[in-house]
Amino acid sequence: MPHYSSTSVVSASPMWNLFRYLKPHWQYFSWSCFASTANKVLDLMPPVLVGWVIDSVRREPPDWIADLLGTFDPWNLAVFLAVLGVVIFFFESIFQWAYQYGFMNLAQSVQHQLRTDAYNHLQTREIEFFENHRMGETMAMLNDDVNQIERFLNIGFNEILQLLVLFIFAGSMMFSVSWELAVVGLLPLPIILWGSLIYQNLISPRYRKVREAVGALSSRLENNIAGILVIKSFTAEKFESSRVSDSSRQYQKANFQAIKLSSVYVPLIRMAIAVGFGGVLLVGSYWVLEGNGMLTVGELVFFSMMIQRILWPLTRMGVTLDEYERAKASARRTFGLLHTPSKIVNPVKCKKLVLPVQGSIELRNVGFTYQRGGVVLKELNFKVDSGEMVGIAGVTGAGKSTLIKMLLRLYDPTQGQVLLDGIDIRQLELSELRAQIALVSQEVYLFHGTIAENIAYGSEKMDFKLVEEASRSAQMHDFVQSLPESYQTIVGERGIRLSGGQRQRLSIARAVLKNSPVMIFDEATSSVDTETERAIQANLSGITKGKTALVIAHRLSTIRYADRILVLRDGQVAEEGHHDELVAKNGTYADLWHIQSGDFGSH
Ligand SMILES: Nc1ncnc2c1ncn2[C@@H]1O[C@H](COP(=O)(O)OP(=O)(O)OP(=O)(O)O)[C@@H](O)[C@H]1O
Ligand SMILES: [Mg+2]
Repeated sequence: MPHYSSTSVVSASPMWNLFRYLKPHWQYFSWSCFASTANKVLDLMPPVLVGWVIDSVRREPPDWIADLLGTFDPWNLAVFLAVLGVVIFFFESIFQWAYQYGFMNLAQSVQHQLRTDAYNHLQTREIEFFENHRMGETMAMLNDDVNQIERFLNIGFNEILQLLVLFIFAGSMMFSVSWELAVVGLLPLPIILWGSLIYQNLISPRYRKVREAVGALSSRLENNIAGILVIKSFTAEKFESSRVSDSSRQYQKANFQAIKLSSVYVPLIRMAIAVGFGGVLLVGSYWVLEGNGMLTVGELVFFSMMIQRILWPLTRMGVTLDEYERAKASARRTFGLLHTPSKIVNPVKCKKLVLPVQGSIELRNVGFTYQRGGVVLKELNFKVDSGEMVGIAGVTGAGKSTLIKMLLRLYDPTQGQVLLDGIDIRQLELSELRAQIALVSQEVYLFHGTIAENIAYGSEKMDFKLVEEASRSAQMHDFVQSLPESYQTIVGERGIRLSGGQRQRLSIARAVLKNSPVMIFDEATSSVDTETERAIQANLSGITKGKTALVIAHRLSTIRYADRILVLRDGQVAEEGHHDELVAKNGTYADLWHIQSGDFGSH
């Protein structure tokens, strides 16, 4: 998405940022690294031991062992080396447990911290961010990217560390025994490294395609499951089946391309390894036979075993590098998100509202344009006094909901000011501002949970009496009582088990319970029947008593009795006045009213 770059700062050194997360655990981290290093070193001991054992039983033991034990007796030496072998294996196992436990724990801690930090930061992001990003994209960041980082810390990092230890330790041992033979054995190394890099370059675009394909497939599936009602009602099952099949086929193809390459990589590397291995056997045997003590049998065995130990992990290097690259990409995205500040933040120096809050609202020359869209509001001016109920009318797309977003500072106006009790809302702390406004939004969103929990949403602790009271005001109580589980009824995801009108009433109850000085109803009764609407309306004056209320409605009967009605057109207040005045004016409002009341004749 091209917009992405403008809302996210791309993190320059993602891995460095990741290691900063390890800082609080540095002691733990150091111990894990130590355990891993010790494990690898001990893991490399068997070839050395085997070499020593062979030379000892052939009565050519290494000098230091003979000196240490003060004997050349092969049996004594063999017993000593066998015991040493057991001790080595024992410690190797302990260190293995220690590093696995350590890195796993570390990865889990960092994962938890990173995920909660990312989520907490995401919550502070402006609404615009969410409107401009696909949900799947944001979810992937919180899930897949964090998991990828966790996997790297748990496995990938350790692999890289052990690879380094292996090279340094095994390499120096081999060179110290016979540098000539070490050179022969490591001859294929440049080819393997070069091959790995080429493989890396070839495979990463293919993996990227796999990831894209799996993303497309899962978003298709997600969309289809969410939209199953539409699919069924339009009998689009066949169409969707073939779309899913296409997506799945793309995924299969992408995977096949990647598998084709990755399946040849390991065999090719093995062939290169075989050359080194064969070289060591051949040259080593020659030196044992003809080299006049240049190489002992034990050393030859040590070499041939060690060469394998060094070269085998290289076959995994392609995978390890790939894991590193993926973790880097994930870290870049995650820290990109974390380091991009919200566009809407608390002011540096806050002003405080004078208590008790009056709830008077003023818009001065407010203009607004969505980043991707035309001008919605221009030079909008109006005032709502404390305690007043103001209706807002206007055709669909006139900018009514947008106006509400300005009041809550979900968006900042591109021009002009919004004032609450005479203070520019940009000078107020966001939480203080939003606590003053109870919104029943056009799109009701309920959380999975009980009816009571949803009504009390946002309150610190649930006071059941208040819940019931709010529910009564919203004409919800009788309905809830009729349910077998009453207020403990689960509403389902997004409130799916309630009807549209029931959801609306619930969200009115929620706003009533919030008990804020300003109440905003955006199409709050559009889905309820006329009778319920009337009942809510009769209650509305009770609900909004002593509060400032903004009521947006297409159904003009809802705002008929408002103290004042504003008609929004072309981003401005086109008409203003009481219902009767506006009808008498014969303007837009009068037109709408006549159409809705079926009273065409009077116009
Ligand atoms: N996030 C957005 N990005 C770009 N344009 C938007 C966005 N949200 C709304 N718009 C556009 O802004 C205009 C005003 O939208 P708004 O939701 O405020 O209308 P409304 O008056 O509430 O309409 P309705 O009565 O249908 O609810 C519309 O033309 C809409 O297409
Ligand atoms: Mg709207």
